[in-house]
Amino acid sequence: MNRRNFISQSGLAFGATLALPTLSSCEAESKSSPSVPALDGSWESVRNQFLLSHKNVQMAQMLFASHPLPVRKAIEFHRQKFDESPVEYWEENFLTIEDVQCEAAAKYMGAEKEEIALTDSTTMGLALLYSGLKLKEGDEILSTTHDHYVTDKALDYAAAKNGATIKRIAEYEDPANATVDEITSKIGAAISEKTRIVAITWVHSCDGLKHPVKEIAEVVKQANSQRAEADRIYLCVDGVHGFGVENINIKEMGCDFFCAGTHKWIFGPRGTGIIWAKKDAWNMMLPTIPAFSDDPYNMWIGSTPVGPIDFNQLQSPGGFHTFEHRWSLHEGFNFQMAIGKEKVESRTRQLAKMVKEGIAEMSNVTCTTPMDPYLSSGINGFRVKGMSAEEVVKAFHHKGVIASASPYKDSIPRLTPCIINTEEEVQFALNALREISKSA
Ligand SMILES: Cc1ncc(COP(=O)(O)O)c(C=O)c1O
Repeated sequence: MNRRNFISQSGLAFGATLALPTLSSCEAESKSSPSVPALDGSWESVRNQFLLSHKNVQMAQMLFASHPLPVRKAIEFHRQKFDESPVEYWEENFLTIEDVQCEAAAKYMGAEKEEIALTDSTTMGLALLYSGLKLKEGDEILSTTHDHYVTDKALDYAAAKNGATIKRIAEYEDPANATVDEITSKIGAAISEKTRIVAITWVHSCDGLKHPVKEIAEVVKQANSQRAEADRIYLCVDGVHGFGVENINIKEMGCDFFCAGTHKWIFGPRGTGIIWAKKDAWNMMLPTIPAFSDDPYNMWIGSTPVGPIDFNQLQSPGGFHTFEHRWSLHEGFNFQMAIGKEKVESRTRQLAKMVKEGIAEMSNVTCTTPMDPYLSSGINGFRVKGMSAEEVVKAFHHKGVIASASPYKDSIPRLTPCIINTEEEVQFALNALREISKSA
């Protein structure tokens, strides 16, 4: 007996089609959300979807997002259903509903549903990926000295288990003046016969540099053209700070694995994320947390013959989650699509450009993020002469701006405007920075 039969024969109405909350059905269900005008193509209507306090200028959404209306409504809808009858609601939906989130992610990314696993964060995705890679003693992971704590530690922990070694290289001297050539040639020169993994970050949250992933993928492809399939190099990307900004199709990026939290720039529910894996790379990653999806469970029970399992069924960690958040993720992607990926990218870039151009005119402030739009995205890092990152962020706070300091050994303050910000807010933040830097 498979789980589907087991649940239906235990009297629970498995298989009932769930009417996922739409804005109008949520409106009826919702008791607390104020009514908000719909998106009308203006940035003001986008801003109005959020309950963000504007007491301070919010310039750090890159860390942890506020939920837009559709996400709030969907969470509220599911929460109510779970509170009314948790087991019944879960059993009615858990085997089918996550297809909705994976399909929305796939549509947004230009991928297929089967290539997407749901996680709780970038951190979880990278940890599952790096600890699941089938590496062995003598294999080498090529990484960089610029990566985030999570990539560094996930690689360290994985290498301690499988005996691979990690080579970390500096890809550039000065991020603000880095070039595509400089980065790709450093990576190309560092690839050795032993390299099996190239682990990079799309947009660095320290200095704001955006990696030329396509060009790096070309370098990896060149190296692979000289190798047997068994020795192939896989390109793995922490994509969290480009995801929800850059209007890309994942298949054009050329990477093999891509992990991102969806609770930052995507504006999905807090505690959600994805791993995308190219079909011909699935076999390189073993699962760490057992999935609760149909195939793996039925194969374990013995009701389905053991055979290949799609990535999304095998790699989405099982267990009981904060399902009201996980099952509302599609609304984050739908929200991005309703605004338009192209529009989101151009607006974020317009505001980021304002920040960088404003900083360029300040004598005591230096941008760490390249001006080149090809090597930058929504994060704008900078240094203020004579002040630490923490001092700058504190001074911003006193002036009514929520900025953030990058959590790296060499901490850098950042201003990261996004689609909820106005030009006036960016000007306000720049004026604050001008005053802060003069008083340094
Ligand atoms: C580059 C980078 N990767 C990963 C993370 C962790 O992200 P998450 O909160 O989704 O685990 C961060 C944190 O902001 C980050 O800057």
